[in-house]
Amino acid sequence: MKKFKKVFSLILCISLILSCFSGCGVKSEKKIIRISHSQAETHPEHLGLLKFKEYVEEKLGDKYEVQIFPNEILGSQTKAIELTQTGAIDFVIAGTPNLEIFADVYEVFSMPYLFTSEKAYHEAMNDTEYMNQVYASTDETGVRVLTWYNAGSRSFYAKTPIRKPEDLKGLKIRVQQSPASVKMANAFGAAASPMSFGEVYTAIQQGVIDGAENNELALTSNKHGEVAKYYSYNKHQMVPDVMIGNLKFLNSLSDEEMKVFEEAARISTEVELEEWDKQVEEAKQIAQNEMGVEFIDVDIQAFKDKVKTVQQEMLEENSDIRDLYDHIQTYNDKYAEEEK
Ligand code: GCU
Repeated sequence: MKKFKKVFSLILCISLILSCFSGCGVKSEKKIIRISHSQAETHPEHLGLLKFKEYVEEKLGDKYEVQIFPNEILGSQTKAIELTQTGAIDFVIAGTPNLEIFADVYEVFSMPYLFTSEKAYHEAMNDTEYMNQVYASTDETGVRVLTWYNAGSRSFYAKTPIRKPEDLKGLKIRVQQSPASVKMANAFGAAASPMSFGEVYTAIQQGVIDGAENNELALTSNKHGEVAKYYSYNKHQMVPDVMIGNLKFLNSLSDEEMKVFEEAARISTEVELEEWDKQVEEAKQIAQNEMGVEFIDVDIQAFKDKVKTVQQEMLEENSDIRDLYDHIQTYNDKYAEEEK
């Protein structure tokens, strides 16, 4: 009996020591970095974030574990930005329209036909030195942008074909949740209906809205092509997504750690951009051949004409966008010749 008790207490001791190791030891001291995004696990952003995780954990794995939450499971982009603000989560990937209420400089990206070429768009966004000033504009609200992701160019798609701007008249079109997005769609003659990305599929399916506007991946990755069969290439916007971080957390990092996070962000963008180019072509094929979506080539100039006063109006209403707007024009001018 004595021997049994000895063995029993030895086992108890060992399990207490072990549970202390797992409960209060090295593992639980790791900080969990939570990243929320709205896309599926096959989407370029998710693949970019996997590289972010890999890099951070390779360099700082003893201190940080990165967890990625896709598909808006932590909430819509607006909700997840709030969670990032409070520090409940550390990062969120969201479209810039969501940041307009935090810093109105971001309204510039909602202007229709802001960028005149894809090259101008990419180069302007890759001008890190300039963009870092823009990214710091939300510091007062407790969040800061770290990097951008390509979200392609946005066009209208609906249950009925949109061949000319007049076809948009009276159509309820979902837009991102921002005042400038509403203004943009209304200027086209549509009835703008702001709602979160995750609600769009059901809203189209149930006839709450007639259509939406987005890139081609929304048709496949988010399955909108199942419920809206006409996609019109009017290409009214190139709106980037951004990685937004909790500023308190970023400020808590040492210089070396910050460099790791910045490099991880840069790598994630590089991967995302490459994947984007691959996936957008695939998405078009799938939407067309497997989902029966018709892609309509429209007269883009007619759509441009319809909203030609909007840029000027927005510049008059909001002086904070002037500098970034002018900066973007230098890239537009640089590639203007190629556009002709
Ligand atoms: C794109 C973009 C998302 C955005 C979505 C939307 O998918 O990448 O960040 O949320 O459009 O229209 O809401």
